[in-house]
Amino acid sequence: MSAGSDIIAQLSSSIPEIARFLWEKGWAEANAGNMSIRIDELPQTYHSAESAVAGYELPKAYPGLEDAIFVLTGAGKRMRQIAQSSQNGMLIIQLNEKAGRYKIFPVSVDQEVDFKPTSELPTHLAVHQMMVKHGMPERAIVHAHVTELIALTHIEEYTGEENLNNLLWSMHPEIPMMLPHGAGLVPSIMPGTEEIAHATVEKFKSHKAVIWEKHGGFAIGNDVQEAFDRLDILAKAASIYFTCKSSGNTAQGVDSDLMRKIKTKFQP
Ligand code: 13P
Ligand code: ZN
Repeated sequence: MSAGSDIIAQLSSSIPEIARFLWEKGWAEANAGNMSIRIDELPQTYHSAESAVAGYELPKAYPGLEDAIFVLTGAGKRMRQIAQSSQNGMLIIQLNEKAGRYKIFPVSVDQEVDFKPTSELPTHLAVHQMMVKHGMPERAIVHAHVTELIALTHIEEYTGEENLNNLLWSMHPEIPMMLPHGAGLVPSIMPGTEEIAHATVEKFKSHKAVIWEKHGGFAIGNDVQEAFDRLDILAKAASIYFTCKSSGNTAQGVDSDLMRKIKTKFQP
C-alpha cells in the first residue's frame, strides 16, 4: 500500500492528532499553520468528477505535478478545530493534466467546501514538486508557528544558518539523526508568495526542515507524524537553550568532539 492510499485513516486519526499537537504546543494560534499530503488517488467516494466544487487557475504551472492530488488545510482554518475533525478545515485538491489549475473536493461526502486551500499553497506545491522531481519518499509537509524557533531568530546572533544550526545541534545531540543537515534558514520574506516558496524549495533540496525567520518552521516527512517530529526536535533544542538562559545559566552545549562523531555517523 502506498503512503497516500490510506488517506481515509489519516483523515480520521493522524491529521487531527497532529493538528491537536500543534495547538497544544502553542504553535497554531488563530489560523496559524498548515499541512499537506500528496496522495495517489482520490478516496473511493470521489471518483466521480461531479463531486468537485470548482476549478481555479494557479498563478503558474507545476510541471511534474500533472493530475497530482493533495489533502491539505484550508486558508484561515484553525488547527484546534481540525483537531476535532478533518471536516473542520481539510480539503482535497487535484491539479489538472497541465498542472496549472486545480479542482476542490471535500474530505467527506457530507461536507460542504466553502473555503480555499491554505494561503501557503505556493510553498506547499513547490516543495511537493521538488520532492516528486527528486523521487524523494516524503509526501507530507507541516508548517507551524513554532514559538521557540521564532524566538531564536529574533536574536541577531541566530539569524545566520550556520550559527543557528551549531546552537541547535549543541543543545540536542540527536538532531543529526532526524535532520542530517540541520535546518535551512529562509530570511524574512512576505508569506504566501512565490518568492518565499522559491527560497524555501532551495533550502529543502538539502534539508528536511526549514525555518522561516521570525515566522515559524516547515518540515517534510513520509507522513505528518514524521514532519511533526522534525519540528518538535528543533523546538526541544531551542527550548533547552532558553531554559538555561531563563534560569540565569549559560548552556554549555554538548561536547564538540562527540558532536563531530555523531554528525559523521548520521550525515549521508
Ligand atoms: P493559512 O490559514 O492560510 O494556512 O495561513 C496560516 C499561516 O500560518 C500562514 O503562514
Ligand atoms: Zn505561517
